[in-house]
Amino acid sequence: MSGLSRDAFQDTVSQYRGLHDAADVETRKQQYTTLVNQYYDLATDFYEFGWGQHFHFAPRFKHEKFLDSLLRHERYLARRLRLYPGQRVLDVGCGVGGPARYIAKHTGATIVGVNNNAYQLERAARHTRRAKLEHLVSFTKADFMELPFEDDSFDAIYTIEASCHAPDRVKLFEELRRVLKPGGVFGGYEWCLTDRYDPKSPAHQKIKKDIEVGNGLPDLSHTSVIDRSLRDAGFELLDARDLAPSGDPETPWYMSLTGKDLSLSGLPRTPLGRQITNALTVVLEKVGLAPKGTKQVSDFLNEGADALVAGGETGTFTPMYFFLAKNPA
Ligand SMILES: C[S@@+](CC[C@H](N)C(=O)[O-])C[C@H]1O[C@@H](n2cnc3c(N)ncnc32)[C@H](O)[C@@H]1O
Repeated sequence: MSGLSRDAFQDTVSQYRGLHDAADVETRKQQYTTLVNQYYDLATDFYEFGWGQHFHFAPRFKHEKFLDSLLRHERYLARRLRLYPGQRVLDVGCGVGGPARYIAKHTGATIVGVNNNAYQLERAARHTRRAKLEHLVSFTKADFMELPFEDDSFDAIYTIEASCHAPDRVKLFEELRRVLKPGGVFGGYEWCLTDRYDPKSPAHQKIKKDIEVGNGLPDLSHTSVIDRSLRDAGFELLDARDLAPSGDPETPWYMSLTGKDLSLSGLPRTPLGRQITNALTVVLEKVGLAPKGTKQVSDFLNEGADALVAGGETGTFTPMYFFLAKNPA
């Protein structure tokens, strides 16, 4: 599981929890590489089991299947970036490559996915080989804060729910602008606190903290930080808005994490499905089929999932703050 040895798994769980429970925001930001890599070493198999190969949310429409809404969300981004065959495009924080493979197939663009997590890249390479898309999609192991690419290397750049892991948004965006050709576009979806978030409210503070622990984040930012950081990094901001209200109000983006998603394929994501998974982890740990610490991971992922639902219900959080920016020519 996760490429970690059994002993390393338990140690990683304790270290990850310890870092969140004891450390202040600045320490978590300094140790972002450890924090994020530990999180994805532990969580990736759970993600693939419950979510698939596209590790993100999307606005939902009534009667639209879960995966179809994720793919529609990716097509929207590709359309806004005006991707076309022959372009060289960077996917920042590419997960196991679900979006890169789909966007490459859909647009004909060549996509380079960058990710700092070795286990996810192993999975990404395997999925891409199986999909026979190696001629269009490749991966590079690197920290997106320091990219191993020449200046002006890419025609366009996108990021899907990954830059929330960055310790410093302005530095990240400056680095991305460096590798983007002049006149090129950068777009993405950001995890953000909204105007409804009240920093003085203990209930809101708990939602924020639980989202951070359950998702490997050093510190969630307000939507305004994204706009300001893009401009401070030298981008021209063309569009920015929260897409959460664009979905069907009766089928909110967090629906799949509630008990209201009644499809069989949606079961692993619901509270009941997550409880079943949780109970299974206890049994698997006891009989030695899963490493010690698996239940603890399942626990904090569940807390994180419940906090995402609370963030969605209160409107204090969005995982789909869309932005489109241009590198001035
Ligand atoms: C929520 S996942 C989203 C993955 C992918 N964009 C998708 O939608 O399927 C966030 C991703 O960002 C990557 N990531 C986080 N911090 C990173 C960093 N400093 N450098 C490179 N990748 C990073 C994680 O390893 C993970 O793959």
